Amino acid sequence: MEKERSSFTGKIGFVLAAAGSAVGLGNIWRFPYLAAKYGGGIFLLVYLILAVTFGFALMTAEIAIGRKTGLSAIGAFKKLGKKYAFIGYLESIVPIIILPYYCVIGGWVTKYMVTFISGGAIHTIADDYFGAFIGQPLAPMIYFAVFLGLTTAVICLGVEKGIEKVSKIMMPVLVVLSVIIAVYAMFLPGAMEGVKYYLLPDFSQFSVTTVLAAMGQMFYSMSLAMGIMVTYGSYMKKEVNLESSVRQIEIFDTGIAFIAGLIVIPAVFAFSGGDEAALGKGPGLMFVTLPKVFESMAGGTFIGTLFFVLVLFAALTSSISLMEAVVSIIQDKFKISRGRSCFFTVLISVLLGVPSSLGNGAWSGIKIIGMDFLSFFDFISNSVLMPIVAFFICIFAGYVIKPKTIIEEAEEHGQKFSEKGLFTVVIRYVAPICIVLILISSVLDAMGIMKI
Ligand code: PHE
Repeated sequence: MEKERSSFTGKIGFVLAAAGSAVGLGNIWRFPYLAAKYGGGIFLLVYLILAVTFGFALMTAEIAIGRKTGLSAIGAFKKLGKKYAFIGYLESIVPIIILPYYCVIGGWVTKYMVTFISGGAIHTIADDYFGAFIGQPLAPMIYFAVFLGLTTAVICLGVEKGIEKVSKIMMPVLVVLSVIIAVYAMFLPGAMEGVKYYLLPDFSQFSVTTVLAAMGQMFYSMSLAMGIMVTYGSYMKKEVNLESSVRQIEIFDTGIAFIAGLIVIPAVFAFSGGDEAALGKGPGLMFVTLPKVFESMAGGTFIGTLFFVLVLFAALTSSISLMEAVVSIIQDKFKISRGRSCFFTVLISVLLGVPSSLGNGAWSGIKIIGMDFLSFFDFISNSVLMPIVAFFICIFAGYVIKPKTIIEEAEEHGQKFSEKGLFTVVIRYVAPICIVLILISSVLDAMGIMKI
């Protein structure tokens, strides 16, 4: 099958490529609105605990499985255990569901960037600007098409490497710029309340839904439980230290999400007094709040423009990795050419993306278990499929191939893997038990009234 597999040149190359996939809209758009909605500090705390335990174990397992077999998800699980190929298939469904609606949101970012560049920043501060925009039938669809087109062009032209190079420069700029904006936002009048809400956990706000939301977000943000890290692992050289790579990707990913929260949440308090309705705004939160921050800043239009350009790049590197995954899954599964596979991927994206976009306006009356299309796809992938996949990976790594296999892989070429105990306990006991409990309670929840 695969002969020479191209590989990342070294640790930095691997970490940056994986971080390019991980850091995206999940960090900047999704994390802050979930944190705002699920009680601020308590969500952040749960998220951090999950990231260093569960996220660490799962990412280690996925990358090790990929590196050991040199194959992407479907082949990798099959190779290690014939009966377990289904995990690979299950994993493969996730990016197919995520890609379409990811491009819809990428389209929103594109729209904001274009508006800022063309001098329309001032219009975006109106409270109903965002809602009015996504509620239109045509405009968001055009931007969705632009974003999907950009992603497709990169994949078809095979210029991912070029994009990665550019994003290696842009990512650090994004970090620096975000820190500057965060510091500014924190000192807006009234924002300190938001900083407290975000940093100090209020344990009375703790619920199972918080854990489920944080867990789904962790998978999403770190590109876990969807086969992507298995594929990245298959390109990783044996002499690169796996454990410290995982740590670095996690720090990168969590750091950016943390800073994004530090921009958005204090700003909600500064501009809306942090009332419940404003905090619970959901997917629109970043788009409604950020323009207000930029508007109040000296040189805000320039900073805002730069910010949206950088976010667009972060989103593109993620959508590219998503599309790459989908294209190769379809290609391998149906044994068709790459061009055809690209075509089908775009077709699926349009078929699922159009309702995701229309669900905010013309089709807002259509609900699936109480959700519009976009929220439904988001819910099904993050809160249902990914936990299920993660459960099977834990069982597979913990009981079928055993933690020993993963640890040995991580210790290739005399590398050090220091968290053996943590890894084993989490992957065998803590994670699977937690997932089952959380899934059961969320299903029960869904039978009542379901909200994400
Ligand atoms: N992790 C990316 C983000 O945070 C999203 C993504 C999911 C990318 C799955 C690739 C695969 O935006």
